[in-house]
Amino acid sequence: MTELKVLISRDRIATRVGEMARQITADSRGEPVIFVGVLKGAAIFLSDLLRSVQLDATFDFIGVASYGDRTVADQEPRRVWDSTGEVRLTKDVDQSLRGKNVFLVEDILDTGLTLTFLKRLLLGHQPKSFRVAVLLDKPSRHKLAVEADYVGFTIPDKFVVGYGLDYAERYRNLPDICVLPEVGLG
Ligand code: IMP
Repeated sequence: MTELKVLISRDRIATRVGEMARQITADSRGEPVIFVGVLKGAAIFLSDLLRSVQLDATFDFIGVASYGDRTVADQEPRRVWDSTGEVRLTKDVDQSLRGKNVFLVEDILDTGLTLTFLKRLLLGHQPKSFRVAVLLDKPSRHKLAVEADYVGFTIPDKFVVGYGLDYAERYRNLPDICVLPEVGLG
């Protein structure tokens, strides 16, 4: 059984998500918002954030994959983590975002390739406003100059799982965010 070390406890996550929700509520000034969650990693973060904002809020999901993704558990870990950088859409939003206040909700900002791809795509809908909320940010891994408007936690260059984040589809159901030691590079 893989040894998992807790990096961010469920209590800290709940506190921080509450703070982010209060900030988003204040910044939105009573306007309706739509949260667009990136499948599958952001699903749990989105559901907690959504229930904490005090706004007229709806949500949708968008799906992306990387052409370099490996999802087989016995692949060499670094190859699972590091994609080729080519992002493709696997599920589009179900509705028009034109004229809406859009919050893109992502689990983790790593190289920034996914966010860059999605930002360009969603801005093409001509939303009224567009903001990005990420639970985790690994600034040392950024390859592109892209930033989120709301960041839950800044973390070191480690591979993390739990609270929606996976390793080969496993561990998404862990309530804490944990480090998988053999995948971390630090
Ligand atoms: P980026 O395009 O390199 O910024 O990567 C974003 C995506 O890579 C995230 O949505 C995750 O699916 C995945 N990812 C990056 N780092 C981790 C990690 O530490 N754990 C789990 N997934 C990660």
